[in-house]
Amino acid sequence: MKNTILEAKNLCKSFANEGTQVHVLNNVDLKIYEEDFTIVMGASGSGKSTLLYNISGMDKPSEGEVIFDETDITKLSEKKLAKIRAFSFGFVFQQIHLVNNLTLLENTLVPGYMDKTKTKQQVKERADKLFEMMDLTEAKDRLPAQVSGGEAQRAAIARAVINEPKLLFADEPTGALNRSNTGKVLDLMTGLNREGQSILMVTHDIKAALRANRLVYIEDGKIGGEMELKPFYELDKADKTALKDREAQVNSWLSSMNW
Ligand SMILES: Nc1ncnc2c1ncn2[C@@H]1O[C@H](COP(=O)(O)OP(=O)(O)O)[C@@H](O)[C@H]1O
Ligand SMILES: [Mg+2]
Repeated sequence: MKNTILEAKNLCKSFANEGTQVHVLNNVDLKIYEEDFTIVMGASGSGKSTLLYNISGMDKPSEGEVIFDETDITKLSEKKLAKIRAFSFGFVFQQIHLVNNLTLLENTLVPGYMDKTKTKQQVKERADKLFEMMDLTEAKDRLPAQVSGGEAQRAAIARAVINEPKLLFADEPTGALNRSNTGKVLDLMTGLNREGQSILMVTHDIKAALRANRLVYIEDGKIGGEMELKPFYELDKADKTALKDREAQVNSWLSSMNW
């Protein structure tokens, strides 16, 4: 039995739009399990980002609960919620948010130093290890403007996991990257997952979806179905057939979901 990290119950989100209510999330029930790489797949406009924001405490749902650590985080004060976002959750977005006048390494160290349970030396060591894993050791002292989009996104991922979050949230993290940088970022997420990092990612990219061991389909703000796969890191990299099979399996599931 897998442990549940996060559970959304009857999650609803509507927006007022010129006097009418637009229901973007409709009664979403979703459990996220420890050590899973869960990917929510759905067409553009299906409500993926809205789900991610409302399940992660970045936005307040109109109805429903999000249980984390036996607490309904939708009812927490902004201060308590901010603490959870800073130390228990990590975030990566399509648009890369780095502080422009800090180097890549400094961007990662700043949130790391906010964790008072660790010494600066411990934070520095974890950052160095992450930068090595991200293949960013040479770029670490450059400013975000002096590196490629792929390098900047990898630094943003390092920053997102510096505090060892219980759950890493990612919203189309490869959406603005070219093919080779997309591959590197996905490899990195897979590597983090292999080391036990739980991930909840939303995407509409099939290549990215292959990385999941659990795929969830969203359509018109409702969960349409889900599928289990073996962890991506268990595939033999040299075995091209295994990858093709996985792609066929995901494609056939997507067609059954009306993709
Ligand atoms: N702040 C908002 N106000 C009104 N409508 C919104 C808002 N945010 C999202 N929506 C609408 O909700 C729907 C789903 O949006 P979104 O969650 O961004 O989809 P996705 O990430 O799957 O592309 C879209 O139709 C979008 O226009
Ligand atoms: Mg989106």
